[in-house]
Amino acid sequence: MKQMVRGSMSWCKMLIGLFIVTMAVNSAQAEGDPAKLTSFKKCVMCHKKADKGDQYGVWQKMVHAKAYELLGTEEAKAVGAKLGIDDPQRSGQCLKCHSTAYFFTETLQTEVLAVENGVSCQSCHGPGADYKKKSIMQNREEAIANGMVYPAKEKSCTLCHNDTGPTWDPKRYTLPNGETTGFDVTQAYEKIKHERPAK
Ligand code: HEC
Ligand code: HEC
Ligand code: HEC
Ligand code: HEC
Repeated sequence: MKQMVRGSMSWCKMLIGLFIVTMAVNSAQAEGDPAKLTSFKKCVMCHKKADKGDQYGVWQKMVHAKAYELLGTEEAKAVGAKLGIDDPQRSGQCLKCHSTAYFFTETLQTEVLAVENGVSCQSCHGPGADYKKKSIMQNREEAIANGMVYPAKEKSCTLCHNDTGPTWDPKRYTLPNGETTGFDVTQAYEKIKHERPAK
């Protein structure tokens, strides 16, 4: 009898444990509410001035702008074929990380963003419907309170750069101490940075 009680107690603990793990995974998966995703044109409108760093122009030349295009290559088709996926450009299993419109899920989350734009601003900076107003944007604290993710380099990158991706290479980066790792935010950031010019 005692043993049965103990048995059901540990089941109970396991269930609670599972519940906590599931909660943690869910909250780590999405940075922000996909219902608050706003048109890409909004961000572009205010962030293409050369004297302020032309974030849009820099983004266009970044790998992330090509993330959807990449899924149409022979290389991507070969990766997809191994997983039984015919067309990676139409599969949520790929678009969850290769587009902002799927926003870390396997289903399209919004009509206001085109999948063709690949990984754009809001994948890293958070859905912008509430922070895109100029008066809010100019004040970092207020922008964060309204959903802007900052600093994005600590909170956003590993939502996609992690070992659940089919081409994850645990030795892609070499750290200064000679050790290898799948993702090193310091080196990776240097390849995609789009800062404002120093005053
Ligand atoms: C109405 C114009 C406007 C729109 C629309 C806008 N921004 Fe901004 N944004 C600004 C201004 C102004 C700043 C303040 C700094 C500056 O002058 O560049 C800023 C700052 C930022 C910063 C830096 C925050 C900081 O504290 O350093 C980020 C990141 C950013 N915007 C992302 C976005 C994204 C993503 C979108 C689209 C969802 C967007 N912005 C839409 C005008 C805008
Ligand atoms: C968990 C997020 C994630 C998922 C899911 C994902 N990718 Fe990627 N993919 C990435 C990232 C991040 C990169 C950049 C290189 C890296 O660090 O793996 C990448 C790079 C690639 C590359 C370039 C190869 C390379 O080594 O740089 C191909 C091809 C690719 N992905 C195909 C696919 C296909 C096909 C699917 C769907 C079956 C898919 N990916 C699903 C995140 C993902
Ligand atoms: C792959 C992720 C990623 C994407 C995509 C991205 N950004 Fe950023 N952005 C960052 C990171 C990381 C920083 C550095 C500050 C931080 O950690 O939040 C940054 C900084 C900024 C800044 C502040 C620059 C400064 O001098 O402080 C602005 C403005 C900005 N981004 C706007 C944009 C806009 C507009 C787009 C789309 C056209 C965009 N970003 C796309 C990750 C991204
Ligand atoms: C929404 C998913 C997503 C997020 C968030 C994301 N990336 Fe990526 N990243 C990708 C995909 C997909 C590729 C492959 C795209 C391609 O090759 O066209 C990639 C490629 C890269 C590459 C080129 C491959 C490599 O590792 O050298 C760099 C560098 C990179 N990302 C840096 C970053 C940084 C830094 C952040 C965080 C500020 C970030 N990414 C956030 C999806 C993402």
